[in-house]
Amino acid sequence: MTDLDGHTYVDFVGEFSAGLYGHSDPVIRQAIIDALDGGTVLAGPNQYEARFAQALKLRFPSMELLRFCNSGTEANIFALLTAQYVTKRRKIMVFEGAYHGGTMVFPAGGNPLNLPFDFILATYNDCDESTRLIRENQTDLAAVIVEPILGAAGNLPGRDEFFATLRRETQSAGSLLIFDEVKTSRCGASGMQGRFGITPDMTTLGKYLGGGLPGGAFGGRADIMEHYNPYKPGSLRHAGTFNNNVCTMAAGLAGLTNVFTPQRADAFHDESEKLRLELQALTDARSVPLSFEGLGSLFTLHLGGTPLLHAADVTPLSRQVGLLFHMHGLLNGIAIAGRGDFYQSLPMTQAHRDKAKAVFASFVSEYGDMISRLAEQNSTTRRTMAI
Ligand SMILES: Cc1ncc(COP(=O)(O)O)c(C=O)c1O
Repeated sequence: MTDLDGHTYVDFVGEFSAGLYGHSDPVIRQAIIDALDGGTVLAGPNQYEARFAQALKLRFPSMELLRFCNSGTEANIFALLTAQYVTKRRKIMVFEGAYHGGTMVFPAGGNPLNLPFDFILATYNDCDESTRLIRENQTDLAAVIVEPILGAAGNLPGRDEFFATLRRETQSAGSLLIFDEVKTSRCGASGMQGRFGITPDMTTLGKYLGGGLPGGAFGGRADIMEHYNPYKPGSLRHAGTFNNNVCTMAAGLAGLTNVFTPQRADAFHDESEKLRLELQALTDARSVPLSFEGLGSLFTLHLGGTPLLHAADVTPLSRQVGLLFHMHGLLNGIAIAGRGDFYQSLPMTQAHRDKAKAVFASFVSEYGDMISRLAEQNSTTRRTMAI
């Protein structure tokens, strides 16, 4: 990536994960050109969407039937409304620090622009609290929606037992479990649901889904999604002018089937996770208290020294360290997000990753002592907050 002043960077912002395919993948580029040659805005189903849906269904078996929309936000809105419709219940359980779209954000202190769903706020990774809240609300709980990695809060990974608890408790409460895999579906061939071996009732996708063009999808168990079958009397409507737009369908299909194949997805995840572990090893070897939270191609730099399980564990000071590395990176030829997030992309080579390691090593040399002092201050702040 080269800026207007001629500085060149390795792009670890990766459009916050939507840039999985990089800036100009030749296969996707060609697919878009071919699609343009065939004509756009033609109305009605097009030749790409059923094949794309079929390919997604093979990758994410929880999506027995699925529908396309224009964004991750829209996918989540439809998943939640669908859950309310099929369960005939109102409440939606979400987790503090979650981000399910521009109108469903759950930072500490809330978001005045959230949609007026009847949300119940729970603590990420807290099995006991989640169990209690699901049981207490079970007569009116339509769904629990959860990100397998809590992205906006700093890519905090969900624990296996947390998801096993959510699966068991929603099942017995008759509520739907919705996995928001808008970001995490890139974590291997079948996303995080494949890694956990858990089948949610519904799944939502977005970000890289459209090969770099706007797009989203929601789907799930056939008996749930059958309500959208237009041949059935009284079926649900899901209209949207550009839901199946030719360019997104063509680019997404080409990407999923010819670029981000299951083999490539698994290999990419492993290569990316290797970088995360190497960066962690580098900081551990120098006893600098930093941690790289996340998994594979999605991770965030935090102040270390204390476990980070849920959003409240991430202090503002920890976020400042991410910002500091963002600045240091820009001065040294790598771009990460201002909040300390790293997103890797398919075109990355070992040389790009080596560059990240070298820049991080120089960061640790320059700021290691200061970071140790900040970590001490951070744990004092956390102890005070806990008291
Ligand atoms: C986990 C998650 N869900 C949903 C969304 C919303 O997707 P979109 O920006 O396409 O509306 C995002 C976007 O960052 C996200 O990270």
